[in-house]
Amino acid sequence: MKVQVGIVGAGPAGLLLSHLLDRAGIETLVLERQSRTYCENRVRAGVIEQGSRDVLIESGLGERMKREGLIHYGVALRFGGRSHRIDFAALTGGKGITVYGQQEIVKDMIAARLAQGGRIEFEIPDVSIHDIDSNRPKIRYTDAAGNPQEVVCDFIAGCDGYHGVCRRSIPPGVLTAYERRYRFGWLGMLAAAPPVSDELIYVNHPRGFALLSMRSREVSRIYLQCALDEDPDEWSDDRFWEELDRRLEGVDAPKPQRGPSLRAKDVTQMRSWVSEPMRYGRLFLAGDATHIVPPTGAKGMNLAIADVCVLARAIAEYYTAGKTELLDRYSDICLRRVWKAERFSWWMTTMLHQFDDTSPFEKRLQLAELDYVTSSRAGSESFAENYVGLPLEYA
Ligand code: APR
Ligand code: PHB
Repeated sequence: MKVQVGIVGAGPAGLLLSHLLDRAGIETLVLERQSRTYCENRVRAGVIEQGSRDVLIESGLGERMKREGLIHYGVALRFGGRSHRIDFAALTGGKGITVYGQQEIVKDMIAARLAQGGRIEFEIPDVSIHDIDSNRPKIRYTDAAGNPQEVVCDFIAGCDGYHGVCRRSIPPGVLTAYERRYRFGWLGMLAAAPPVSDELIYVNHPRGFALLSMRSREVSRIYLQCALDEDPDEWSDDRFWEELDRRLEGVDAPKPQRGPSLRAKDVTQMRSWVSEPMRYGRLFLAGDATHIVPPTGAKGMNLAIADVCVLARAIAEYYTAGKTELLDRYSDICLRRVWKAERFSWWMTTMLHQFDDTSPFEKRLQLAELDYVTSSRAGSESFAENYVGLPLEYA
């Protein structure tokens, strides 16, 4: 079998790449380890930057997001017992973010690919990639009928997340990894309770960080900073709501309306990690396969979208003009933006959480930083510019 671009992984990166390449008349095959149901129901973050929203709409994937997504033109930072709103629209010339679950986007992308005759094979457990440093890279796997397959590609896109096979197929010594791990996690609850505010609230409190987000006008998504080894089973709904109330104390304390959990509570690990470069031979890595951000800046999926926009354009340029210039610069172009998102996500994480080794001096600095961001035009402008998303760059 032969295909122009073989794509490993049907997350937002792999699916959007397949969709964009299809629109450019380029054939793809997507191979995914998990089932379709699993991919469509994996609950993750839900904030879409302005630029990502534009890409989804322009490429024809935005219809349901436009109807069901909630557009927000600001967020609140809460510290010292008060909330401070950052007004994105005023600070960024009218930009905002859209709150729409990642799994909803994945559902929309899978439906669009299949409706257009795109090929996605789910439940493929044994993908392996070969000859990536030649002009004929290959993917081998066993198909659903149990037959061994070999697909010869022009390019392979590794969109298979942190635990995928693609990055690990690159010879030792080629990649450099940069990493910071945080010694806390987020305990997350999805609850049948209307959000307390129309916008997200990020809370710095001496008992730990909290985030009040949402999935709709009826469903809240709330996180509490917790220990890395926190056992979600020890958190009843009542205990969770009570702890949240404590972290919201102060003047104008929001009083969330309580509701039952819609599914088991989970713990999200926090990590900053970049592996460079994002290309080896004819293998191009995108999304979580090559960088991870802690969720505080809400950048994970947006970075995946930005990577594949660059990659789709570079591959299209190769087929239409026979040029490899953009492909050769793919990693450099993406990494400039990736590192700025890493910086922002690390900075927000540092500013908002309680660290077990923070000195009293550093705690005062944290509050000064929050005061600066919320009271200075320059400070809040920089926050807003990064939160709604830096421009997508193709050069
Ligand atoms: N073979 C085939 N598929 C694989 C393999 C493999 N060996 N290993 C992993 N996969 C699949 C996973 O099952 C998953 O569906 O690759 C997909 C990777 O998707 P994501 O993890 O969603 O990564 P990405 O598309 O880069 O999107 C990044 O996802 O993790 C969040 O916060 C992150 O929002 C960000 C977004
Ligand atoms: C979410 O709604 O899940 C969410 C929102 C903002 C974040 C992280 C997660 O920074």
